[in-house]
Amino acid sequence: MLTRDACTALDAQDPLADLRTQFDLPAGRIYLDGNSLGALPRSTAPRLQQVVTQDWGQGLIESWNTAHWMTWPQGVGDKIARLIGAAPGEVIAADSTSVNLYKVLSAATRVQRLAQPAHHVLLSQRDNFPTDLYIAQSVCAAAGWRLELAEAGAIQARLAAGDVAVLMLTHVNYRTGALHDMAALTAQAHAAGALAVWDLAHSAGSVPVRLHAVDADFAVGCGYKFLNGGPGAPAFVWVHPRHADVAQHLSGWIGHAQPFNFTTHYKPAAGINHYLCGSPPILGLAALDCGVDSVLAAEPLGGMAALHAKAGQLGDLFMRLVDERCAGLGLDAASPRDAAQRGSQVSLAHAQAWPVMQALIARGVIGDFRAGVNGDPDLLRFGFTPLYLRFVDVWDAVETLADILGSRSWDVPTFHARKAVT
Ligand SMILES: Cc1ncc(COP(=O)(O)O)c(C=O)c1O
Repeated sequence: MLTRDACTALDAQDPLADLRTQFDLPAGRIYLDGNSLGALPRSTAPRLQQVVTQDWGQGLIESWNTAHWMTWPQGVGDKIARLIGAAPGEVIAADSTSVNLYKVLSAATRVQRLAQPAHHVLLSQRDNFPTDLYIAQSVCAAAGWRLELAEAGAIQARLAAGDVAVLMLTHVNYRTGALHDMAALTAQAHAAGALAVWDLAHSAGSVPVRLHAVDADFAVGCGYKFLNGGPGAPAFVWVHPRHADVAQHLSGWIGHAQPFNFTTHYKPAAGINHYLCGSPPILGLAALDCGVDSVLAAEPLGGMAALHAKAGQLGDLFMRLVDERCAGLGLDAASPRDAAQRGSQVSLAHAQAWPVMQALIARGVIGDFRAGVNGDPDLLRFGFTPLYLRFVDVWDAVETLADILGSRSWDVPTFHARKAVT
């Protein structure tokens, strides 16, 4: 049997432990939701203060030139590139993941209309994140394509039919944390004449990603989760250089080759720069820059491989303690038990997942709830962000969970009432 002292000892030996000091964490809370909204880096508030009072307040409109605001999407993009195996000049930070997905899928339809005119299927996964499926539905309607959804295990067989134009997958499943083999699936897509589009929402800043090494075609991802960019942070988009000059459909003025010529006709900027659309959100980019820096701080300590390894150890400890302390209390593991097969989260199915999570939150253990659809179970989701979580936090969280389930203290009307954001 493990003890709390043994967890404290693990923290004392943890080479990544000091990274926690980068964050402003509320006292008395164990934050297991960095997979939904990353924690606040200490550097963010002073940076925003400076951008607001100096650049905006004093510099006013001149700051577009003097503070080089126009280049911030590329500057932050270059930093994100280091986390996802892309090269400088290939990533920009802009818009939301949903909007960026529309851009890359629209470019993919243009590529495939010429390369594979007989391929009309956009293939994705049944339990992909809904926004990906909604955006894909719009793109398919415009392109005259068909969206088909397969279970994870049936994707390879469906590709083999030979009519898939684009395979669009989320690398780390938002419900279960299950990780796809990006290299194998990209190779299988290419062998079948399809392009591979990856959503890295739960991967960037969480698991090692090697976009060039796996020869992916397009990728998008979130700034507000493991990149700690703050609520509604700009997302990012990467395009393989072989496709980067294929025009995407959201042709806004900031993506024009010379926006300040104000010409009547659209001429896309070269490469990834035409994936910009409207004006860059400067305050959001400043916060995202601080968040990305908080992840890059792990580079001298082993970078993404070291972070993912620690997330795996935290998740393994959680699953082991749940097995030991919550047996018979209605929980089922919904995430892969092998840490190499999952991102930085662990999900547990429970028939009363909503009130149980509300009871946990009331006791200071912050995770979230994901509703099951199409026969999937309701889930308690726990994110294990290795930048700021300790092994002792995992111990304390499981103690609280065991107590709530054992005492049924979740079963009171206040915890059953649903909220807008889950
Ligand atoms: C896998 C995945 N893709 C996309 C999104 C949505 O991204 P955005 O809100 O930036 O459009 C989410 C949000 O949780 C997500 O989990």
